[in-house]
Amino acid sequence: MPTLSWKGKHASTMGGIQPKHYEQWNDEDQPHVLHCGDNLSWLAHAKTQGKRFNLIYLDPPFCSQANYTQQIKTATTTHIIDGFTDKFSVDEYLQFIYERVLLLKDLLTPNGSLFLHCDYQQSHNIRCILDEVFGSKQFRNEIIWHYTGGGRAKKYFSRKHDNIFWYSHSSVWTFNTDPIRIPYKETSGFAKGGITSKSGKKYLPNPKGTLPDDTWDIPILNPLAKERTGYPTQKPLSLLERIILACSNEGDRILDPFMGSGTTGMVALKHHRHFTGLDKNWNSIHLMRQRLLKTTEAFSISCENFPQSGIQHVRLHKIDRNWKVESLTDTPIQMVYGLTDDRKCHPILDLQQHKRFRVVDIYGKVSDFICEEHPTSTVVLRAIGAN
Ligand SMILES: C[S@@+](CC[C@H](N)C(=O)[O-])C[C@H]1O[C@@H](n2cnc3c(N)ncnc32)[C@H](O)[C@@H]1O
Repeated sequence: MPTLSWKGKHASTMGGIQPKHYEQWNDEDQPHVLHCGDNLSWLAHAKTQGKRFNLIYLDPPFCSQANYTQQIKTATTTHIIDGFTDKFSVDEYLQFIYERVLLLKDLLTPNGSLFLHCDYQQSHNIRCILDEVFGSKQFRNEIIWHYTGGGRAKKYFSRKHDNIFWYSHSSVWTFNTDPIRIPYKETSGFAKGGITSKSGKKYLPNPKGTLPDDTWDIPILNPLAKERTGYPTQKPLSLLERIILACSNEGDRILDPFMGSGTTGMVALKHHRHFTGLDKNWNSIHLMRQRLLKTTEAFSISCENFPQSGIQHVRLHKIDRNWKVESLTDTPIQMVYGLTDDRKCHPILDLQQHKRFRVVDIYGKVSDFICEEHPTSTVVLRAIGAN
């Protein structure tokens, strides 16, 4: 089989994993897991732990040479902060994708599937990589996600689709048809009760609708869409819904190693799947955490390398059993975590159980605070610096 080569091509070196750093992680009992850090080392670690996922969806950077920003709206203003960068040379990019895909294949269950979302910029090369890693026999579909809206090119046909490659781990895979059926088009004979061929054979409609083919017309998120989070390159829930309903079952484990705003996670939760989301951008983890907190689901968060200290002083207000944490600088607080001895972060519900806590400002900067005595009223606490 022909294979693609590029400068510096090599199989994964375990992502520079430092086993000690990960020793204390045990997410087995958690239905949902969020991890902040470069996904390469987490994936390598997960492989050594024998973790397996029924479905993996990844929407990595597309090699677009762009820097993406994120919008965060507060009551009074909209903040524009750094999102993520998508600047690679082609050689770097192909290596980036290759070493992750090698690990991802080993993280699939025997009947598991991987969906890789990309676009015209590298889809031709990515398909070669997937053929090499999975074997071309495991290619199931190239889904064309077609959308309209936005500007129109004047010198060539407007580029209005993305490519999603589906590969299965083996020759056995999950594909549920009924949950993804769509209503027949009004103009279709089926919508009018059925079709009769010239020979007189009658083809009756399925009451649940027809099955989608490999070109999906799903609108991109418009600026006013309710589900819009302000995270750059956010994908629509309905796109992920079709993938998840077709290729996984209730109780299955789903991994998104480039989680972004958490679209995959939200759909996984809605349909009773277990979700693991990875992203190196703090704001992605924060966003998904906020979305999870609105549900009754249990989850764990872990992180590599917090950014250095941001907010220096905070004030606490007790509201019933819970505490409101306020910044005394003019930098708005983005999230507050309780810290346990193993340095894992937990959403703060009751500060009295967390003597140490961590505040992340709107720019993603982190400060740790210590609460020497249990505060009984409004108190000001000093930063102890990030670690
Ligand atoms: C295209 S966005 C994903 C958008 C997502 N599908 C959604 O619907 O919101 C790509 C994401 O990958 C993350 N990312 C890029 N490189 C990464 C890496 N090496 N490890 C973990 N996350 C990474 C970026 O921070 C960004 O959030």
